[in-house]
Amino acid sequence: MRIGVDYYPEHWDRERWEQDVKLMLEAGIKVIRVGEFAWSLYEPREEVYEFAWMDEIVDFFGKKGIKLILCTPSATPPKWMIDKYPDILAEDIHGNTKLFGTRKHYCFNSEIYREKVRKLVGLIAERYGKNPYVEGWQIDNELGHGNTARCYCEECHHKFIDWLEEKYGTIECLNKTYGTVFWSQIYNSFDEVIVPKAGTCYDFDSGTQGQNPSLLIDYYRFCSDSIISFTKESAELIKKHSDKPCTSNLLDAAVNSGTGIDYFKLSEELDFVTWDNYIEFQWGKAKMETVSRDHALLRSYKKKPFWVMEQQSGPCGWSKMGPSPDPGKLRLWTYEAVANGADTVVYFRWRACTFGAEQNWHGILGHDGKVNRRYAEVKQTGEEMERLSQKVGTLMPKARVAIIKSFDTEWCHTIFQNVEGFQYDNLLLAFYKPFYDMNISVDFVQAEEDLSMYSLVLAPALAYVSDVAKNNLESYAAKGGTLVITFRSAFKNEYNRMLPETIPGPLAGLTGVEVKDYDPQFEKSTSVAGIFGSGTAELWCDIVTPKDAEVLGLYTGSYFKGAPCLTRKGSVYYLACDLDEKAQGNFAKYLCGQAGIEVGLYVQEGIEVVDTTDGEKQVKFLLNHNNYDTVIALTQEYKDLLTDQKVVKTVKLEAYGVAILGD
Ligand code: GLA
Ligand code: ZN
Repeated sequence: MRIGVDYYPEHWDRERWEQDVKLMLEAGIKVIRVGEFAWSLYEPREEVYEFAWMDEIVDFFGKKGIKLILCTPSATPPKWMIDKYPDILAEDIHGNTKLFGTRKHYCFNSEIYREKVRKLVGLIAERYGKNPYVEGWQIDNELGHGNTARCYCEECHHKFIDWLEEKYGTIECLNKTYGTVFWSQIYNSFDEVIVPKAGTCYDFDSGTQGQNPSLLIDYYRFCSDSIISFTKESAELIKKHSDKPCTSNLLDAAVNSGTGIDYFKLSEELDFVTWDNYIEFQWGKAKMETVSRDHALLRSYKKKPFWVMEQQSGPCGWSKMGPSPDPGKLRLWTYEAVANGADTVVYFRWRACTFGAEQNWHGILGHDGKVNRRYAEVKQTGEEMERLSQKVGTLMPKARVAIIKSFDTEWCHTIFQNVEGFQYDNLLLAFYKPFYDMNISVDFVQAEEDLSMYSLVLAPALAYVSDVAKNNLESYAAKGGTLVITFRSAFKNEYNRMLPETIPGPLAGLTGVEVKDYDPQFEKSTSVAGIFGSGTAELWCDIVTPKDAEVLGLYTGSYFKGAPCLTRKGSVYYLACDLDEKAQGNFAKYLCGQAGIEVGLYVQEGIEVVDTTDGEKQVKFLLNHNNYDTVIALTQEYKDLLTDQKVVKTVKLEAYGVAILGD
């Protein structure tokens, strides 16, 4: 475990490097990420390549003992290229060209862009592939960020048609699958098929597109696949010259819902995954459980430790700023990442820039480059991490609970939002939060993967259940696994069409229920009562007939008063409605009891406790997110791994303080 920084040596005078590297080394910074936006330096004019500047960076910092993550600079194709090949520019859903002037203005399917990227990435990989100071590679930067995953240009159109032809073979098959007879959309040939731009019925405010939903989901998949193939291509080029691992920096789930990339699939092309963790900035403050959830997602994509490639290190924003992190928070956020499976935490950025669009985005150092309280805190953290990593290896929580996340389902629920307020990721978060509150680690999984290491699996609103998923869930339950299926599950096919069956079609046998009717809770809510106490459904109520399931909860209001809202068949639960936070929390506790998962003793608001292991040793993290000191009772004796002191009975946590305890 160690720390690093995102660094732009080319933004500063060469003379400053000496001081920067000295300060970095003193702070325990082991790695820098460089070069992700430097295309116009590498290739100032077409096919004129310049590497001397990067040679100097790699050599200078490498010799001083700092490792480098080298990036492919594909997120910023330069001006000369755009002028000469304007077709590189992406097109938005309204048919407007995305213009040069910021970044990420390119289309992933542009052949000329891809060719230019291949050439440059090949040269960079060839030049630095065997360099001992380069320890890894970042491909592009925040793929899909800022609504850039989906392009609607002509080149995408042509490639989409090829993709469809490959998938469906004949236009008749596509017509039938999509139901193009609806609204007179029958196509005579693949050439006629459109990309789903904003049409007459497009209504941005309500999120309604009105396009054929099968076409939409296929387009989402195609765009995701385009980015994945782009990433794969860069990774393969790098691997020709380098045996160092490749990654890319992913986004948090709140943004990720709109990112439009299947992160499980993308992760297959990466050797390790990383993400960018901004907690309090111009665009809002993340809730504690969302940060934890995002770490959990990241360790789940590849089932192994990840990095934070950009960790907030100062007040941030573009036009406006969020708050300056209170003293203690940089250290707290770093250990929160480490506790949840991060191996390396890289701060964005080393020093605030004095020019460009991100002048307000502060780094560890301010604009003046002088050491400050943030630097002191990072230095403390760096020193501690160094000591910690001499005692234990990379740590991961061992989760016994898993939540199923499916990007196909996410896209079904984006195209048809079901009811006002329904948001798939928020629903997953509502299931995650009570476990976070109880300090129980949760992984995210795909419905098709091995679930045997989990005692409890939750599958909120799993709209599309593949055959493989169906069998997998059945065998998980057959072996005694506790499984929760909910409303809005198993009612779609893979083409985003309604199943012509009673819900939950493929899961009817497993759950032992039939959903004969439902009531979207639009401008209404329904009271419920059951093993979770009493509560309210605010999004959705399935009106369920149990076939061979027992009833554990009932609606106590609405015209279906007395109908079941929660049932159980064996170890499989069917939750027919959403629950308010309190009832959801009680339900989670009940499920823990049923699945034999013990609820920790350390439950206290704002205190995150994560039990981790490096495979051999057990390490307990206590993280105080509160702005006040607190004393936590312990049930056994520990050793504080940072101070080497024995900890008996209680441990005191300062405001935003951290304790790391070993046996
Ligand atoms: C993202 C990017 C960085 C930087 C920061 C701050 O996370 O990856 O390049 O732009 O945001 O805006
Ligand atoms: Zn395009």
